[in-house]
Amino acid sequence: MIQQINLLVAVALTTALIFYLTWSSQGKEIRRFVSPAPIQADATTCYVNINDTRRLSGQAEPTIYFITPSYPRREQIAELTRLGQTLMHVPNLHWIVADDNRNCNPMITQLLPRFGIPFTHISSPMPEMYRSVSVIPRGVANRRAALDWIRTNVKTGVLYFGDDDNTFDLKLFEEIRDTNKVSMFPVGLIGEYGVSAPIVKDGKVIGFYDSWPAKRKFPVDMAGFAINVEYLLKFPNATMPFRAGYEEDRFLRSLGVTLDMIEPKAESCTQVLVWHTQTNKKPPPVLKIESSPDNSLRDLLQQVSYMGMASISNSNGVKTYMSKDGKVTVV
Ligand code: UGA
Ligand code: MN
Repeated sequence: MIQQINLLVAVALTTALIFYLTWSSQGKEIRRFVSPAPIQADATTCYVNINDTRRLSGQAEPTIYFITPSYPRREQIAELTRLGQTLMHVPNLHWIVADDNRNCNPMITQLLPRFGIPFTHISSPMPEMYRSVSVIPRGVANRRAALDWIRTNVKTGVLYFGDDDNTFDLKLFEEIRDTNKVSMFPVGLIGEYGVSAPIVKDGKVIGFYDSWPAKRKFPVDMAGFAINVEYLLKFPNATMPFRAGYEEDRFLRSLGVTLDMIEPKAESCTQVLVWHTQTNKKPPPVLKIESSPDNSLRDLLQQVSYMGMASISNSNGVKTYMSKDGKVTVV
């Protein structure tokens, strides 16, 4: 009898706690804590190209698997073009572009072969439930899909997470290429210190310099470490949580990383070879074009709207003008 009463009290208390959490967070926190992470959000491998048509000289081993989460917005093709043209200079690299998108974006399918780099194009949308949490875990579903692709298709190499808006010094690639397990290095333009970096003494990492410790064991940015693929494969359950701010730390912990095994790069973490640059994001304008122009603007505007840089309307939006000799006429 007493046992039954205890059980009843326990059930009642648990129910009350769940109600309280739901009420106090309007459903957001509870979803963060108790909902099981989806096994893996939808992921489609859109295209894989294994041929390197760049004719770069020199033999660089092993292969770097460069994972770039990306998502549709008006700057997307510009960012991927700039990044692709950096990666063109890096020998023996396979670029995994994992788009946060329900569909295989044909613009990306057309863009990637132009660089001559071996690549994989994946589309993997963020599950809807995470789009409504207070701080959205950006780039997680798609990075996880890229990790799955690596686990299925790759046996050796080095993996690195390079966001589409960051800036990379070509020296970085030769630094991370010989990563045995886990390497780390400084990232510029992070937080209030302007840099986030491991602190090194006598060749060993003794701590971290990062303005947001947040009780993290590894207070590092996504761009601040590289992992050996053979090492990754020893941890089939290692993954990144859908929890903004803690993706790096929890991923590294799930890989069993310890301080003493970290290989410091970039001259004992004294050099900055990657920057967390951010693009000033603006919504695309609506251009009011009443009738289709009979000049180059017709095709140009079509291209601009296809790329998501602006949308065209014949009834609303900003009026646009053609100018000649300083005089303007409505387009
Ligand atoms: C910072 C970190 O540098 C990222 O590594 C981390 O993923 C991110 O915060 C986060 O946890 O929110 P930040 O520059 O603030 O990055 O964020 P974004 O550049 O907007 O996004 C990071 C990456 O995820 C980018 O490559 C972006 O293309 C991609 N992303 C962003 C998506 O795939 N989906 C989105 O809805 C937004
Ligand atoms: Mn960014």
